[in-house]
Amino acid sequence: MAYNLLKGKRGIIFGALDEKSIAWKVAEKAYEEGAVFTLSNTPTALRFGEINALAEKCNATIIPADATNLDDLTHVFEQSMEIMGGKVDFILHSIGMSLNVRKKRVYNDLDYNFLNKTLDISAVSFHKMLQVAFKLDAISRWGSVVALSYIAAQRTLYGYNDMADAKALLESIARSFGYIYGRERKIRVNTISQSPTLTTAGSGVKGVGSLMDFTDRMSPLGNADADECADYCVTLFSDLTRKVTMQNLYHDGGFSSMGMSLKAMNIYDKNLESALGGD
Ligand SMILES: NC(=O)c1ccc[n+]([C@@H]2O[C@H](COP(=O)([O-])OP(=O)(O)OC[C@H]3O[C@@H](n4cnc5c(N)ncnc54)[C@H](O)[C@@H]3O)[C@@H](O)[C@H]2O)c1
Repeated sequence: MAYNLLKGKRGIIFGALDEKSIAWKVAEKAYEEGAVFTLSNTPTALRFGEINALAEKCNATIIPADATNLDDLTHVFEQSMEIMGGKVDFILHSIGMSLNVRKKRVYNDLDYNFLNKTLDISAVSFHKMLQVAFKLDAISRWGSVVALSYIAAQRTLYGYNDMADAKALLESIARSFGYIYGRERKIRVNTISQSPTLTTAGSGVKGVGSLMDFTDRMSPLGNADADECADYCVTLFSDLTRKVTMQNLYHDGGFSSMGMSLKAMNIYDKNLESALGGD
């Protein structure tokens, strides 16, 4: 059901790769809610071609950009303002990649060139995006910028590797730039800390099946999926959340506040009994 929450708003959505991508779902929902927007991803991602179907469906122009490249980002903002006829009201940063994860380098054997790339692509690109937009004065007053994060920024989760460090930096950038954007331009900057989700990036995480099962069982409301994440993004782009800024907002069915659940306690008791030789 649509509520016209984004009627008259212009945006830029970075990171839709295929229909599993969180950014893809956000684009679909933003379109349903009345927004106009451009889509951006790397030339390599665009070569897969799937994003063309999304662009057609949402009546959006695709602008290629490597989000670590300042000239590319400048082009995205300038082009977007030209195509849509004005400043943008919302931006989604839905970008993440670790070569250490891809090449199966564990955290105590990182390749530091890969680590630099992880941080640049997954976190510093957010700063670059915000800085380019700030210099171009490309975001309207009371606009909203959202990046996607994960609880590994606060807690250690086996297998998340150097992406945990990238997410910690990403959330810090949202606070630091959120202060400046709020003070100078009345624009909000937040991160959403999303449940593990089966996407191309999500599937790369070691043991993702067990992780998703664990978080689903530990969360009183269960894992949040990509569609639900898109709904949450839409509320943050809407005028209903104008005073929410510099926050890391958990969208995880309650997982982040859990310590021990009834189900986990039952399993623990059962295993303890057999481990201690109960029978
Ligand atoms: N899937 C999960 O479990 C999960 C959980 C929490 C947060 N997130 C975050 O959500 C965001 C989106 O990921 P997703 O799960 O939808 O996976 P995805 O693989 O669909 O999206 C990742 C995107 O990053 C893009 N990208 C990579 N390098 C880039 C670069 N240099 N410039 C521009 N774009 C680049 C990719 O092309 C891709 O579109 C990421 O920040 C991810 O860390 C994912």
